[in-house]
Amino acid sequence: MTANSSNQYDVIIIGAGAAGLMCAATAGYRGRKVLVLDHANKPGKKILMSGGGRCNFTNLNSTPANFLSDNPHYCISALKRYTPQDFLELVDRHGVEHEEKAPGQLFCRESAKDILNLLLTECEWAGAEIRMKTTIKAVKERSDGYLVSTSSGQLTCESLVIAAGGLSIPTMGATGFGYEIARQFGLHILPTRAGLVPFTLQPDLKEQLSPLSGISTDVDASCHQQHFREPMLVTHRGLSGPSMLQISSYWNPGDEIAINLLPTCRIEEELLALRKNKPQSTIAHYLAQHMPKRFAQAFNELQGWTGPLQAYKNSDIEQIASLLGGWHIKPSGTEGYRTAEVTLGGVDTRQLSSKTMAVQDRPNLYFIGEVVDVTGHLGGHNFQWAWASGVAAGQDA
Ligand code: FDA
Repeated sequence: MTANSSNQYDVIIIGAGAAGLMCAATAGYRGRKVLVLDHANKPGKKILMSGGGRCNFTNLNSTPANFLSDNPHYCISALKRYTPQDFLELVDRHGVEHEEKAPGQLFCRESAKDILNLLLTECEWAGAEIRMKTTIKAVKERSDGYLVSTSSGQLTCESLVIAAGGLSIPTMGATGFGYEIARQFGLHILPTRAGLVPFTLQPDLKEQLSPLSGISTDVDASCHQQHFREPMLVTHRGLSGPSMLQISSYWNPGDEIAINLLPTCRIEEELLALRKNKPQSTIAHYLAQHMPKRFAQAFNELQGWTGPLQAYKNSDIEQIASLLGGWHIKPSGTEGYRTAEVTLGGVDTRQLSSKTMAVQDRPNLYFIGEVVDVTGHLGGHNFQWAWASGVAAGQDA
């Protein structure tokens, strides 16, 4: 193959998702000849389904504390060099309308398509080529780079970037390809598991909670000293909603989660005062003042708290307060990769450069985005990692 042959590239990126497309545009603007390969029929499928179709594309309050990793300092450098503000400037330059739904969480006002179009436009302007429906058959190292055998022929490149994502939502094209390539080159993979995923419950508990199905209430959920104060949703399958998704990333099989159902209340004190001032009042009435009425009613029925407060002894009130403030649940599992937003674990970052995302003893091989062991909290942090790691590799590859 000659240097000018059409199947020779400076940079080949495997994966046309958030990280791969960002990397392609960045490398393309540096004058590199870039090709993005993907086996799916369309690029950026997860971008399109993200944020309920409106893509929570960044979080203005994102800090390294919003990420889980076995090597927590790794993500700091890339996140510092490409910030949420940087991505927001890009969004504004493309005239994409957006809104802050919760503090710091930026969503498209219209559609997640706007973010995908932005990335595809950037790739086009930067001269990066995107080839979909391409199966990668093998990757081999050569003295001057890599040989990538694909369903569209043999391709060569100086730098190879793996942006193939994690295992979540296999129906959207997720595969373990990135991990296989990492293993092929002798890299260590940290155990993977589903994150930001709803919990499933034992049949008994699921049955008991079924009257609460479809109702959401603000809670403080905790596990392993991590707390998330966000809504919880009871579903016909188990527990979901932002607080449950967040805590699922810290949960291991067999762990209990503690749920404070009244996080703004001093429950025992308030119940004692209510019993004194309004002895005829009920626990159901107290609950209804602090949580959605349907949830209050169903939860009260579930616990069988009947009769006026004056009938409750101090020890009863203490017990009730302790249950409401720390309802302990032992999930039977999670819904797994089928519905998980992210994959925890992955390529061990101790083997990668935090500046360039390249493998330390193989500087032309890069791993970016979800395939590496960096996982964000819910709220736009995962895309911010995809942008930041994509830019870091794109500036070097
Ligand atoms: P991504 O998965 O986006 O891309 C990987 C690409 O590699 C895919 O195009 C895939 O087809 C391709 N590929 C895989 N195997 C291959 C193979 N063998 N050969 C060739 N190509 C291959 N995050 C956030 O910050 N805000 C949000 O609102 C949401 N919402 C959300 C909703 C849902 C339902 C999900 C599932 C996820 C989110 N996320 C999110 C998480 C976010 O989507 C995720 O972190 C990023 O898409 C990761 O970007 P990557 O580019 O690393 O992987």
